[in-house]
Amino acid sequence: MALTKASFLLPGCAGLHSVQGKMEESTPNGKILSFLRSEFTKVKKNGQHATRTSLLLTHPQLKFPIVVFDDGIGDDGMNRYTALWLECTHQGNEVNVQGNILSCPGHGSEFDRTGKVIQGPAKKALHAFEVKTDSDSVFIVLA
Ligand code: FES
Repeated sequence: MALTKASFLLPGCAGLHSVQGKMEESTPNGKILSFLRSEFTKVKKNGQHATRTSLLLTHPQLKFPIVVFDDGIGDDGMNRYTALWLECTHQGNEVNVQGNILSCPGHGSEFDRTGKVIQGPAKKALHAFEVKTDSDSVFIVLA
């Protein structure tokens, strides 16, 4: 995974809530990018709360954004998340997020919300990051 000074958002991701993550200290497993779990909660104009199912995580050191899906609560009662690097595994274009489908404008590859290829020419799944949580935050291990 490349870390650079640039980050671009394509129109296909424009509707997603975008969050700039906080770069935590490096660990033996890689750098950690964090954000508050409350970013998944949206306050409507009428004051009511709604839950977002995904968001776009950015940072100036990242060449591509990361989409984070809220997968709900697991058997252990903990929230589950899927975090995918939006670099197409075919030739490296940025992948757009359209609901649960991730599509590449380069040559039409499509991926599901787990990163699995559902349409080529890409053959390899999107990179999925390890995700950790505590009561307030989500931590993405950038490795
Ligand atoms: S770069 Fe994504 S399909 Fe070719």
